[in-house]
Amino acid sequence: MTDTNRRVIFAKRPEGWVTPDCFRVEDAPIPDLADGDVLTRNIVMSVDPYMRGRMSDRKSYAAGFELGETMNAGAVGEVIASKNKNVPVGTVVNGMLGWETHTLVKGGAGLMPVDARAAPLSYYLGILGMPGFTGYYGLLNIGEPKPGETVYVSAASGAVGQVVGQIARIKGCRVVGSAGDDEKCAWAMESCGYDVCFNYKKVDSYAKALREHCPDGIDVYFENVGGEMLDAVLANINPYARIALCGMISQYNLVKPEGISNIQSLLINRAMIRGFIISEHFDGLPGFIADMTGWMKEGKLKYRETVAEGIDSAPAAFIGMLKGENFGKQIIRVGADPA
Ligand SMILES: NC(=O)c1ccc[n+]([C@@H]2O[C@H](COP(=O)([O-])OP(=O)(O)OC[C@H]3O[C@@H](n4cnc5c(N)ncnc54)[C@H](OP(=O)(O)O)[C@@H]3O)[C@@H](O)[C@H]2O)c1
Repeated sequence: MTDTNRRVIFAKRPEGWVTPDCFRVEDAPIPDLADGDVLTRNIVMSVDPYMRGRMSDRKSYAAGFELGETMNAGAVGEVIASKNKNVPVGTVVNGMLGWETHTLVKGGAGLMPVDARAAPLSYYLGILGMPGFTGYYGLLNIGEPKPGETVYVSAASGAVGQVVGQIARIKGCRVVGSAGDDEKCAWAMESCGYDVCFNYKKVDSYAKALREHCPDGIDVYFENVGGEMLDAVLANINPYARIALCGMISQYNLVKPEGISNIQSLLINRAMIRGFIISEHFDGLPGFIADMTGWMKEGKLKYRETVAEGIDSAPAAFIGMLKGENFGKQIIRVGADPA
């Protein structure tokens, strides 16, 4: 067993866009385990948009990262040393681990065992993990889609968006998406069952594109993007439309967020917009896993991810994901799967 941990330190708070100098990669000794502690060798790790919020010192729903500390993330690892009888050596676990090759987990807190034979380990960070559950929960519990309704999904090919589009399709809806790349749009239509997916970077006006692609109006909007796109959606919603406000990635790197001018549409259409934070709904995970694995067995779900190799690649992959360089869920491969 190595005695060195390679880790990514949060070095500087970004102002506006995240830059590579916000991070520092270094080697450090692996600390000794106390009673109850567990040491993981990390295998796959997630980088997610919400981490941008944790890099700022503004108040938010998730605790901020501390300067000088190791970044952390959802990750899957193998227990290679343990002083905790509940989490023995050899267990493959999912939990909040560090942006690092090895994580010492105090008291084994928050670790959940993972069945390494049931699915590739990275799926537990994507389609069968937090982003997949976000899409499932937000669409079904807030969007409440009905057969024949029009569901519009922004960031349609991303970790969350690809799941939303496919479930909306399973529920018998007409599904429209947008993404920032022709290849992403083609994949969304060919593999994820989107009826239409348009490249928002190539249209003159979002509102005009939505009028064209949603001729019967929008009944459900799954909001991943915010800003000008939300304004355009508000101009195209139907009476009693539901907007699941999942994220607003177009705003995360702006020093001054954009305003919304069509808010009156919510009143005129007696429509509903509701934000949600998925970590408050984890009691719904068993139903999610049952539905998703069922649909997967029936061949109804496709999944796509982009994998960056090695812990040193994490900062660039994170920055790239915020800019749309990922195609599907962005994963970091930190180490080999268990033998
Ligand atoms: N509420 C919750 O609990 C919760 C949980 C998970 C995620 N989220 C939110 O869900 C959204 C999607 O997250 P994800 O993990 O699935 O990420 P993702 O979609 O896999 O990756 C982010 C994507 O956002 C798109 N994007 C970036 N800047 C944009 C802009 N200015 N306008 C339009 N699109 C832009 C890019 O795709 P294109 O190439 O298509 O532009 C990029 O690939 C984010 O807003 C995130 O914060 C919320």
